[in-house]
Amino acid sequence: MFRYSLRMLVVGLCALTAAAPAVTAVAATAPTGQQRATHAATRTPHPQTLSDLNTAMKGEAFAYASYNLFAAEADRQAYPAVGRLFRATARTELNEHFREAAALAGTVGSNAANLRQSINGETYEHQVMYRRFAAQARSDGDLKAAGLFTEIAADEGRHRDAFRTALKVVTTGHGTIPAPPKADTVPVPAGPPKVKADRTKANLDTAMHGEALAYAKYTLFAGHARQTGNTALARLFAGTARVELHEHFAGEAVLAGLVRTTKVNLRKAIAGERNEATVVYPGFAERATRVGDTAAARYFRDTAADEAKHAAAFQRALKRLH
Ligand SMILES: [Fe+2]
Ligand SMILES: [Fe+2]
Ligand SMILES: [Fe+2]
Ligand SMILES: [Fe+2]
Repeated sequence: MFRYSLRMLVVGLCALTAAAPAVTAVAATAPTGQQRATHAATRTPHPQTLSDLNTAMKGEAFAYASYNLFAAEADRQAYPAVGRLFRATARTELNEHFREAAALAGTVGSNAANLRQSINGETYEHQVMYRRFAAQARSDGDLKAAGLFTEIAADEGRHRDAFRTALKVVTTGHGTIPAPPKADTVPVPAGPPKVKADRTKANLDTAMHGEALAYAKYTLFAGHARQTGNTALARLFAGTARVELHEHFAGEAVLAGLVRTTKVNLRKAIAGERNEATVVYPGFAERATRVGDTAAARYFRDTAADEAKHAAAFQRALKRLH
């Protein structure tokens, strides 16, 4: 726990000022004696490092969303200890790994900048991504997926419109921030994929990563809005985040067959964590070191070590189930 606090502090001190609010609460808990633990990474990371940080954020957000669903399945199968392990690991992925990468990448800006970033994402999903996925699913005979993608495309259009209205209010000081959308939580029982085409499966995977990322980003944006005293905007971001996770991600997870038995879920988690620990993060660390992004390199190395611990903990849990 202490090491995490220190890491958050270091990131908090070194991140662009725009990103700092996301980590303030954790940084404040670190001992003041450590506050000189700064390093030479106040510059914007190299484009390759930024791209790697964004890939990391996507993976971390996806792990968070998946592990919470795996936790629910473990509870259903009466493995409460495994449920707790998945939930605790999910929290690390979001509150430490995702947040630190976002701070290093400067993801969180002013409320207006956060809204513009969100509008761009929603516009792409509404106009391009989900329409393309729906058309492909339809032509491959995956009609359930085509229906879901079409429904989600419409939701993203509403998200974009609400964020546009909010941006006007934030920039002009006039008008009312829209009320947050209501999320209808979709249950995700264990089960096989409900689509047949490989292309639909790949599109579902892309879509789930996008939804998990949107949830995690909007959660940070909500935190920033709250810290700057804009509670209505905080509610809009938090409510939209819940739709991305509990409706969109969850609906896609059902069709993708993301959740299986707890043993299979643990095996999948172990493979993912090992890949991050031994391939993904060490590779990112090496690249960041090569271009002099020392803070990012340290983040990638520390995170690789954490993922190895996650893999080991899941492995122990799997052994106990046999
Ligand atoms: Fe992680
Ligand atoms: Fe959305
Ligand atoms: Fe969404
Ligand atoms: Fe992990």
